[in-house]
This record gives sequence, C-alpha cells and structure tokens, in this order.
Amino acid sequence: MSEIKNISISFREFHNQNELGAEDQELIEASVEAARSAYAPYSLFRVGAAIRLESGRIVRGANVENAAFPSGICAERTALAAAITNYPDDRPVTLAISAISVDGSPAEQLTPCGNCRQVIAEEESRWSRQIRILLAGKNKILELDGIGQLLPLQFNRSSLRPDRP
Ligand code: THU
Repeated sequence: MSEIKNISISFREFHNQNELGAEDQELIEASVEAARSAYAPYSLFRVGAAIRLESGRIVRGANVENAAFPSGICAERTALAAAITNYPDDRPVTLAISAISVDGSPAEQLTPCGNCRQVIAEEESRWSRQIRILLAGKNKILELDGIGQLLPLQFNRSSLRPDRP
C-alpha cells in the first residue's frame, strides 16, 4: 500500500534585528559588509555570508562572478571554503546570509541556492552537527536550526556509504 508522507519545516521569523542577540546582530552586520565586497558585475546581485565559528571568530565570503558564468561562486560557498581552509578545526555554528541592492541598501532576505544547500549539508555531516542559519533581509530575518529545513531528504555521506558512519 502506498502512503503519502509529509515533511514540514519550521523556522522562526524576526521582524526586527534587535530581537536577536548581540552576537547574531554582529554576524548579520558582517554578512552585509561581506556583500559590499562582492564581485558581481553581471548580475549586480551582491550577496554576503558570515560564519560564526565555535571559537567566536567570524569568517566572511561574498559572491565572485566570472565572464564564464558557471565559474562564478556564491557567497555561502566562498565563506565555507574560507572557514574550512583557514580554520579546519573550528566548527561552524551559525551562518548569516544577506544581500544588498544596487544602491547598497539591505535587500529582501534570500534563501541559498541548491548548490550551496548541498555544500552546507556536507559541512553539517562533517561535524555531525547542525549549522544554524540566519537569512537576513530588510524587513525580516528567518532563523533555521539547520540545512535540513532547506534540504530535506538529502544525499549525504550516509547515502554514499550506508554501512559506514
Ligand atoms: N548568489 C549567492 O551568492 N548566494 C545565493 O544564495 C544566491 C545567489 C549569487 C550568485 C550570483 O553571483 C548572483 O547571486 C546571482 O545569482
């Protein structure tokens, strides 16, 4: 007998950055600053990501585009690659993502693309811990407990080697 299964996601929505703790506000500011350093001459869509590591350190990344479009990289993966490369033993705890408009003002909140969701999922698998995600926009901020909220039924290391941890 077939069955319909449902997956529900939940997240918290804030309407004011002041409702968040000081560390999270600082992280969101860092993501906005990172967006200002984006290289996005083709889309003009500047995205910034900031990762809070367990030590408290913040690592930033921005999208970096290329005339050969697929060679460009998103802010989230730039930040994760920087964190993993420079601080391989420092676990990512929270990831904040922001975008800025062409005039430099904060844009509406965005959600990461599929490639980035997969890369965030890999980092969660590496540590066997969730990475809290803050999607920050000019009118609201969404807080998610982990990438499972954005990438259910994911393909990860346990799919590849179901017999190994
Ligand atoms: N982009 C990001 O950096 N992160 C996202 O979550 C969505 C999209 C970038 C990729 C490209 O440089 C530009 O935004 C437009 O898609």
